[in-house]
Amino acid sequence: MNILLLTASPRANGSTDFMAGAFKRGAEERGNKVAVVRAYDMKVMPCIGCERCKERNGVCVYRDDMSVIMRLLDSTDMLVIASPVYWWGFPAPLKAIIDRLYARDIQKLRVRSSALLMNAYDEDAFESPVGQYIKICDYLRLEIAGIITIGGVREKGGVKKSERIGEVFALGKSIIP
Ligand SMILES: Cc1cc2nc3c(=O)[nH]c(=O)nc-3n(C[C@H](O)[C@H](O)[C@H](O)COP(=O)(O)O)c2cc1C
Repeated sequence: MNILLLTASPRANGSTDFMAGAFKRGAEERGNKVAVVRAYDMKVMPCIGCERCKERNGVCVYRDDMSVIMRLLDSTDMLVIASPVYWWGFPAPLKAIIDRLYARDIQKLRVRSSALLMNAYDEDAFESPVGQYIKICDYLRLEIAGIITIGGVREKGGVKKSERIGEVFALGKSIIP
């Protein structure tokens, strides 16, 4: 299947990229196609709640890179988010993308499933973003293929030392094309 892997760290080659890479390798080995988009490379304005999209058949007042993401979503079966925890939540560029999904009717989303890969300094940092993610998937009617959180990351790229990185690869490999 076509997978959109949305990564949300500003740091190249950090733990988020490492988790995303492990998932991608597994998913591609199984025969899936994976497109990677870095949230920090996208210029996406925050939703201003003007509701104009609801009068304009889903067209937002802003013309920015969200149209690129929407186009990719239209050819995507699965949305995978790889992200660090920022303040017990998602980094702002990722949150801006999530907010802008508001423009699209749920029925018009092709994507059917999702997975979340997160890492953080603390072991207990995930309750809030994971709770938010589950609610979002429930609302968008996305089946959750997996949620993998790795805490205790004390240095850049620290997840490389985690035994749990194999789980991330295995999750990718479990995705049936
Ligand atoms: C702005 C900011 C906020 C953060 N907030 C948290 C937090 O609330 N809880 C936590 O455990 N770690 C927090 N961290 C640490 C990151 O989640 C952690 O360093 C992560 O491994 C970074 O991944 P990366 O190298 O892929 O960007 C924060 C880091 C930054 C820069």
